[in-house]
Amino acid sequence: MLKILVCVSGGGTNLQAIIDGVKNGSIKETEIIGVICNNAGAYALKRAEDNGIPGYVLSPKNFESRDEFNKAFLAKVKEINPDLIVLAGFLVTIPEEMTRVYENRIINIHPSLIPSFCGVGYYGLKVHEAALTKGVKVTGATVHFVDSGMDTGRIIYQKAVEVMDGDTPEILQKRVMEQAEWIILPKAVNDIATGLIKLG
Ligand code: GRF
Repeated sequence: MLKILVCVSGGGTNLQAIIDGVKNGSIKETEIIGVICNNAGAYALKRAEDNGIPGYVLSPKNFESRDEFNKAFLAKVKEINPDLIVLAGFLVTIPEEMTRVYENRIINIHPSLIPSFCGVGYYGLKVHEAALTKGVKVTGATVHFVDSGMDTGRIIYQKAVEVMDGDTPEILQKRVMEQAEWIILPKAVNDIATGLIKLG
């Protein structure tokens, strides 16, 4: 059984896609053992609560320094003791020590086809704003392993999505979520849980 910890910051629709996948059997051999969120008001925490998943609020804002937060964050993760950490819209930088301790056991969903529109400053709607400004005709989403860089780890899956005339960042974000993110992230979790994708 693959024990996963999901880290979130916002609405939690990617978390919900994983919850639904575990429930409907499309994600096999997986248990969501915890959700960590840096925002006490995030709807993602309600999704966890509604599904009996322990939720933990941990924010750099509640610590004297980033170093203190990083220590507390890593200690909490070790206490939860997951096999895999899934970053699903988590807007906090992962401490370098965590990327070492959990090397090749942290995955992230990014709302573009990496290496386009990724790295520092590219998150949430900003990614789609950049894609529309550039005028790309195809965008999409990427699931990748997390290393010490920003959106630089080994790519696991990508799925392309068409940009349509008249798209706003919000419309494009929704299409990328529906047609790409909510498909490839659950698939990546299932394929890790069933051994198709090797960890470590
Ligand atoms: C998603 O678009 C994800 O790609 C990005 O942040 C957003 C999180 O959305 N990293 P949600 O919290 O999963 O609804």
